[in-house]
Amino acid sequence: MAREFTSVGVVGLGTMGAGIVEVFARNGVNVVAVEISDAALERGQANLTGSTDRAVAKGKLAEADRDALLGRVTFAVGLDALHSVDLVIEAVPEHLDLKQRIFAELDRVCKPEAILATNTSSLSVTEISVATARPNQVIGIHFFNPAPVMKLVEVVRTVVTSADVVADVEALCARLGKVDVTINDRAGFIANALLFGYLNHAVGMFEARYASREDIDAAMKLGCGLPMGPLALMDLIGLDTAYEILDTMYRRGGRDRRHAPVPLLKQMVTAGLLGRKSGRGFYTYERPGSPKVVPDEQTPAAAESALADGASGISKVGVVGSGTMATGIIEVFAKAGYEVVSVTRGAEKSAKVCEAVKTSLNKGVVRGKLSEADRDAALGRINWSATLEHLADVDLVVEAVVEELSVKKALFASLDEICKPGVVLATTTSSLPVIEVAMATQRPADVVGLHFFNPAPIMPLVEIVRTIRTSAETTATARAVCAALGKTGVVCGDRSGFIVNALLFPYLNDAVRMLEASYSTADDIDHAMKLGCGYPMGPFELLDVVGLDVSLAIQRELYLELREPGFAPAPLLEHLVTAGYLGRKAGRGFRDHTRR
Ligand SMILES: NC(=O)c1ccc[n+]([C@@H]2O[C@H](COP(=O)([O-])OP(=O)(O)OC[C@H]3O[C@@H](n4cnc5c(N)ncnc54)[C@H](O)[C@@H]3O)[C@@H](O)[C@H]2O)c1
Repeated sequence: MAREFTSVGVVGLGTMGAGIVEVFARNGVNVVAVEISDAALERGQANLTGSTDRAVAKGKLAEADRDALLGRVTFAVGLDALHSVDLVIEAVPEHLDLKQRIFAELDRVCKPEAILATNTSSLSVTEISVATARPNQVIGIHFFNPAPVMKLVEVVRTVVTSADVVADVEALCARLGKVDVTINDRAGFIANALLFGYLNHAVGMFEARYASREDIDAAMKLGCGLPMGPLALMDLIGLDTAYEILDTMYRRGGRDRRHAPVPLLKQMVTAGLLGRKSGRGFYTYERPGSPKVVPDEQTPAAAESALADGASGISKVGVVGSGTMATGIIEVFAKAGYEVVSVTRGAEKSAKVCEAVKTSLNKGVVRGKLSEADRDAALGRINWSATLEHLADVDLVVEAVVEELSVKKALFASLDEICKPGVVLATTTSSLPVIEVAMATQRPADVVGLHFFNPAPIMPLVEIVRTIRTSAETTATARAVCAALGKTGVVCGDRSGFIVNALLFPYLNDAVRMLEASYSTADDIDHAMKLGCGYPMGPFELLDVVGLDVSLAIQRELYLELREPGFAPAPLLEHLVTAGYLGRKAGRGFRDHTRR
């Protein structure tokens, strides 16, 4: 029989603590919520009432249930109020000495059978436990932010945590409607170990002005389907907390440079820019604690978008290539009202592309997303050709031929001869340096990358890659074109992986390393990222969909360009590719797809 927890204590009512109080009280458990001072207690109470009021306003919680929930919570200053609770969860700032002091005090105050739990994200639960005389009753219960929403709880057992305590806490998680994964005590556990390298990398991109905060966040939301971008997530986590987590992970996790906090973080924390909780972090919020972003000096100016609108004098577009991307891009432009010249290497290929575009447009009609008249009009706007000379009068060329530098360079040299002056020449390359193709022409200022995502008619994101020679006007035109296509264009520098792949693939590679180290299973890792961080797919599901060979190639490119030791492809990934386990397309990758 699992132990009954009738009352629990929560220490620290900040970002996490207030949410944890809400989780327990919502599920009928009485909570003693403690803070360090009257002022902090008041802020904690406000955090809880703010969150429950928002739930009522959204219709997710009845008023009577809110009142009952709040009625289950007793507030107090100081740990003495926790003398009779069955379980305590500590959620104070991420400092080992502070947590150790609190655990020593809890050990003194709480009844002997009480379980003492920490919500630490990165500190050693073992080190915290030895501050007490009952380390076998100390455990990590790591909730995710926002605690009332995120389904996952990581239950962290140390080498001395008793099996009964683990089982009791697992049963409690189930009662709270949470899904738990039980793991050993390692820096960052599953989710943060995979998440924080990515978050820090995104902050580094922002610090280096590689892309704007809006563009970095939009890229990851729209390119990967994440619930929020990395910088908005940093603001939600709290920059002080994120700094401490990174710092601990750097020290505990093998001094991986990717966890060394980006210097900008320390500056922001010192300046009091802590994220949502202080009203300002990467973004500015309506007031401290508010989730609502308000414009500030970094918000893209209206004038800038007006410039983009004016910059587009484009009506006729050439698309070169006959593969999946070219086919999708032809459809996207034709549907958006542009006249399109499709150039392939022969009539046979043109016929195939034409068929594919028709099939895709017909699907739109069947699904009620496109009228028959609009389909016919779109098809009527496409001219099929097998000679580049037909691009003499287009305003924009989008190249989507094979991913080989020599082929692309030769094509751009020809386009330079054929196209009229002032035309924007775009490449859809996902891995080659755009500057290389730009320099194959006499007009590098007019060359830009337009990295569409597959399938182009569906994916809402386009990465606009500007080289050091791309003119501001070309970039503005590219932005305007993306907007006219109904896509979100994000502007970034000409570096391997642009924004999305550079941030996504090292994280996937890290997940492979974690599996390789036998820290957890593919299922638990996938679960952790989906339920703890809201990812639409776990890393192994995604790797199997993308293809392990494709993933390995991207990861190799990133490693070769950035020489970051942490980006070196995981040996397990290399072995699976060598073995022909390439993912879904091969019937087997990380999982066997032949058996259902
Ligand atoms: N922020 C996140 O996204 C997140 C997610 C999961 C876990 N965590 C972990 O949760 C813990 C708390 O992080 P947070 O982001 O909620 O921090 P926070 O700064 O928002 O809140 C910490 C709270 O602890 C209180 N406090 C400080 N000393 C205290 C004491 N001696 N006694 C009682 N209360 C005290 C502070 O007044 C503050 O209200 C950390 O260990 C963190 O790593 C954070």
